[in-house]
Order: sequence, then structure tokens, then C-alpha cells
Amino acid sequence: MNVVVTKSYEDSCAYVAQEMVALVNANPTAKLGLATGGTAEKVYPHLVKAYQDGKVDFSEVTTVNLDEYLGMSPENPVSYRKCMDTWFFDHVNIDKANTYVASGLNDPEEEIAIFNEKLYGDKLLDFQLLGVGVSGHIGFNEPGDHLVAGVHIEELDESTIQANSRYFDSPADVPTRSITMGVGDIMKAEKIILIATGDSKIPVITKLLADDAVTSELPVSVLKLHRDATIVIDRELAEKCNYKELEK
Ligand code: GLP
Repeated sequence: MNVVVTKSYEDSCAYVAQEMVALVNANPTAKLGLATGGTAEKVYPHLVKAYQDGKVDFSEVTTVNLDEYLGMSPENPVSYRKCMDTWFFDHVNIDKANTYVASGLNDPEEEIAIFNEKLYGDKLLDFQLLGVGVSGHIGFNEPGDHLVAGVHIEELDESTIQANSRYFDSPADVPTRSITMGVGDIMKAEKIILIATGDSKIPVITKLLADDAVTSELPVSVLKLHRDATIVIDRELAEKCNYKELEK
């Protein structure tokens, strides 16, 4: 697992977007795994800008998103489908038919089958963008005594419900279950980049970078097993996590 430390969160977003643009330019039919969440959100304006500047063409790109709340209508402004449309898809030349965000309204078993078809029907993901939850989750894979490899329904951790309640009227309105890629699905992506920032991520990033441990109690730690996974953090977060590489 590589660690990239940037000067600021804004620089982190620019860095991640630059990597994604380079990947699409090298492979115009790239299949991208995408992420929502407040941290990943600010990556998308950089991708839109690159498109507007004629630096990238998304017309042949396909995308699969990590997760969605169960019971969430795609029409709801806080649904991950709406986020992806308003943050990214509506502003670039991607064919929306080639974008997939799981439906939270469909029968879960049916949706799992559709999700798997989108993930594996043609080719594997060339890339996966990730954020990390305060619980240490990736996608919605929460900590516990085991992890799940494939697409599944996941109960949200209490800390995730609290953290994500900022998008809802109250914590009671946050859906308690989600449909998510499993950690095995994420790990099959050719290249993975995770972006993290902010004080709420100090505990998980500190644990992640402290040692070589891989544990289901910290789902993000599976990235240590991947051949091409990069964690992008800003200097402020790195310092607060006592990330020693800084002193090299
Ligand atoms: C949600 C998503 C995760 C994302 C996380 C981090 O829970 N399901 O995929 O990584 O948010 O969100 P934020 O960046 O807002 O802290």
C-alpha cells in the first residue's frame, strides 16, 4: 500500500483526479469504480474541469458505484445516484446508460444479481476510488468479526449512521442498511486510490498506518494486501496521525 501526502485536501483532490484522467486517457474504455461521501465529492469538480478543458473524454467509460442505502429512492436528493448525477455525470460526456449505482428500492436479492452483472458481466474494474468511514469501512463494509467478499446487504455501524446523519434531518432518518460491493469486489480492481481528510479520520488513518496489521476490525486495512493501492492524505492529517514517513 502506497501513501501519498499532499500539501492540502484540495491538492489531494487534484492529485486523485489527475490520476483518473491519466488512466482514462491511457484506456478510453476504462471501467471505473466510483465513490460518494463528502471527501470524494470534491474530486469530481476536478474531473468536470478536465473534461471542460478538453483534457479527457468519458464517452466510452463505464462506471459502477460502491454502494447505496437500502430503501433509498434514486430520486431522493441524498441518494448516491442523485449525488453522482449532480456532482459528475450531468456535466461530462459519459453515457448514463453506462453508469450504475445500485437501486435502494429494488428487491435486494434482485439488485445483488444486477450489481454482480454490472461488476463482472464484461470486464473487471480498472480502477476503484474510495473514501473511508469513521468506522474504518470501505464502501459500506463495516468492522466486525469477519468481512464479506461479494456484493451484499450490510447493517450500518452506529458511528456511520451518526457521521452520515448530516445529510438527513436527524439520525433516525438515516437508513440502517445498505447494498455494497464486498471487500473482494473492491480488491479485484486493478488500481485503487483512497482519499481521506479531516479530524474525524484521525483514529482510522492512525491505526491504518501504524503497522502491517490486516484485520476485519479495520476493513480499510485489506488495502495492504493489494498490489496497487494508494492512500492519499494531506499533510495536516498525516501529521495528526504521526505518520513517520514525513520525516524521511
Ligand atoms: C459513506 C460511503 C463510503 C464513504 C464514506 C466516507 O459512508 N458509503 O463509501 O467512504 O461515506 O464519507 P466522508 O468522506 O463523507 O467521510
